[in-house]
Amino acid sequence: MFDWKKEYETGIETIDEKHKELFKIANEAYALLKNDLILDKYDKVVEIINKLLDYCEYHFSTEEKHLLDIGYKKFLSHKVQHEEFIRNLRDENLEKIDQNQDEYIMKILEFFVKWISGHILDRDMDYVKYERTLK
Ligand SMILES: [Fe+2]
Repeated sequence: MFDWKKEYETGIETIDEKHKELFKIANEAYALLKNDLILDKYDKVVEIINKLLDYCEYHFSTEEKHLLDIGYKKFLSHKVQHEEFIRNLRDENLEKIDQNQDEYIMKILEFFVKWISGHILDRDMDYVKYERTLK
Protein backbone atom coordinates (compact mmCIF):
# COMPACT_ATOMS: atom_id res chain seq x y z
CA MET A 1 0.00 0.00 0.00
CA PHE A 2 2.74 2.45 0.93
CA ASP A 3 5.28 2.44 -1.86
CA TRP A 4 8.42 4.45 -1.65
CA LYS A 5 8.65 6.95 -4.50
CA LYS A 6 11.44 9.05 -5.85
CA GLU A 7 9.59 12.21 -4.87
CA TYR A 8 10.00 11.28 -1.19
CA GLU A 9 13.76 11.33 -1.46
CA THR A 10 15.57 14.07 0.40
CA GLY A 11 18.87 13.04 -1.12
CA ILE A 12 20.32 12.77 2.38
CA GLU A 13 21.06 9.09 2.70
CA THR A 14 20.69 8.67 6.45
CA ILE A 15 17.34 10.48 6.44
CA ASP A 16 16.01 8.60 3.40
CA GLU A 17 16.91 5.29 5.02
CA LYS A 18 14.94 6.28 8.11
CA HIS A 19 11.97 7.49 6.09
CA LYS A 20 11.91 4.13 4.30
CA GLU A 21 11.69 2.43 7.69
CA LEU A 22 8.56 4.42 8.38
CA PHE A 23 7.02 3.00 5.22
CA LYS A 24 7.82 -0.48 6.48
CA ILE A 25 5.94 0.13 9.72
CA ALA A 26 3.03 1.62 7.75
CA ASN A 27 2.85 -1.48 5.57
CA GLU A 28 2.91 -3.65 8.66
CA ALA A 29 -0.12 -1.79 9.96
CA TYR A 30 -1.87 -2.20 6.62
CA ALA A 31 -1.15 -5.93 6.52
CA LEU A 32 -2.57 -6.22 10.02
CA LEU A 33 -5.76 -4.46 8.96
CA LYS A 34 -6.19 -6.84 6.03
CA ASN A 35 -5.44 -9.94 8.06
CA ASP A 36 -8.73 -11.66 8.93
CA LEU A 37 -7.04 -14.64 10.52
CA ILE A 38 -5.96 -12.76 13.62
CA LEU A 39 -9.04 -12.30 15.74
CA ASP A 40 -7.48 -10.29 18.52
CA LYS A 41 -5.14 -7.69 17.10
CA TYR A 42 -4.62 -5.76 20.32
CA ASP A 43 -1.05 -6.91 21.04
CA LYS A 44 0.01 -6.28 17.46
CA VAL A 45 -1.51 -2.80 17.45
CA VAL A 46 0.29 -1.90 20.67
CA GLU A 47 3.49 -3.30 19.18
CA ILE A 48 3.12 -1.08 16.12
CA ILE A 49 2.47 2.02 18.22
CA ASN A 50 5.53 1.31 20.34
CA LYS A 51 7.63 0.72 17.25
CA LEU A 52 6.40 4.00 15.87
CA LEU A 53 7.23 5.84 19.08
CA ASP A 54 10.75 4.40 19.20
CA TYR A 55 11.18 5.26 15.57
CA CYS A 56 9.97 8.83 16.03
CA GLU A 57 12.14 9.53 19.00
CA TYR A 58 15.24 8.25 17.28
CA HIS A 59 14.63 9.60 13.80
CA PHE A 60 13.40 13.01 14.89
CA SER A 61 16.41 13.64 17.07
CA THR A 62 18.76 12.69 14.20
CA GLU A 63 16.86 14.92 11.80
CA GLU A 64 16.77 17.80 14.26
CA LYS A 65 20.50 17.53 14.80
CA HIS A 66 20.96 17.70 11.05
CA LEU A 67 18.77 20.81 10.84
CA LEU A 68 20.83 22.52 13.52
CA ASP A 69 24.02 21.57 11.69
CA ILE A 70 22.85 23.26 8.49
CA GLY A 71 21.48 26.28 10.37
CA TYR A 72 17.92 25.75 9.14
CA LYS A 73 15.92 28.86 9.95
CA LYS A 74 12.60 27.13 10.51
CA PHE A 75 14.13 24.64 12.92
CA LEU A 76 11.78 25.43 15.78
CA SER A 77 8.53 25.11 13.86
CA HIS A 78 9.82 21.85 12.37
CA LYS A 79 10.63 20.54 15.82
CA VAL A 80 7.19 21.55 17.05
CA GLN A 81 5.58 19.41 14.36
CA HIS A 82 7.73 16.45 15.39
CA GLU A 83 6.71 16.94 19.00
CA GLU A 84 3.06 17.12 18.02
CA PHE A 85 3.32 13.77 16.26
CA ILE A 86 4.87 12.18 19.32
CA ARG A 87 2.31 13.74 21.66
CA ASN A 88 -0.58 12.49 19.54
CA LEU A 89 0.83 8.99 19.58
CA ARG A 90 1.44 9.03 23.33
CA ASP A 91 -2.01 10.38 24.08
CA GLU A 92 -3.68 7.45 22.41
CA ASN A 93 -6.06 5.70 24.72
CA LEU A 94 -5.03 2.05 24.55
CA GLU A 95 -8.34 0.89 26.01
CA LYS A 96 -10.11 2.17 22.95
CA ILE A 97 -8.04 -0.09 20.73
CA ASP A 98 -9.58 -3.13 22.33
CA GLN A 99 -13.11 -2.19 21.40
CA ASN A 100 -12.59 -1.18 17.82
CA GLN A 101 -9.41 -2.67 16.55
CA ASP A 102 -9.78 -2.29 12.79
CA GLU A 103 -11.08 1.21 13.16
CA TYR A 104 -8.09 2.00 15.26
CA ILE A 105 -5.66 0.57 12.70
CA MET A 106 -7.37 2.76 10.10
CA LYS A 107 -6.56 5.70 12.33
CA ILE A 108 -2.90 4.72 12.42
CA LEU A 109 -2.91 4.44 8.63
CA GLU A 110 -4.40 7.92 8.39
CA PHE A 111 -1.59 9.11 10.58
CA PHE A 112 0.94 7.72 8.06
CA VAL A 113 -0.80 9.32 5.11
CA LYS A 114 -0.82 12.65 6.93
CA TRP A 115 2.79 12.25 7.82
CA ILE A 116 3.92 11.39 4.32
CA SER A 117 1.97 14.12 2.56
CA GLY A 118 2.08 16.78 5.24
CA HIS A 119 5.47 16.21 6.72
CA ILE A 120 7.87 14.34 4.44
CA LEU A 121 6.61 15.90 1.22
CA ASP A 122 6.11 19.34 2.65
CA ARG A 123 8.11 20.21 5.76
CA ASP A 124 11.06 17.91 5.13
CA MET A 125 11.31 19.01 1.51
CA ASP A 126 11.45 22.59 2.70
CA TYR A 127 14.72 22.04 4.53
CA VAL A 128 16.03 20.05 1.56
CA LYS A 129 15.40 23.11 -0.62
CA TYR A 130 17.11 25.30 1.94
CA GLU A 131 20.07 22.95 2.11
CA ARG A 132 20.46 23.03 -1.66
CA THR A 133 20.86 26.80 -1.57
CA LEU A 134 23.87 26.33 0.69
CA LYS A 135 25.77 24.34 -1.93
FE1 LIG B 1 10.95 16.09 9.86
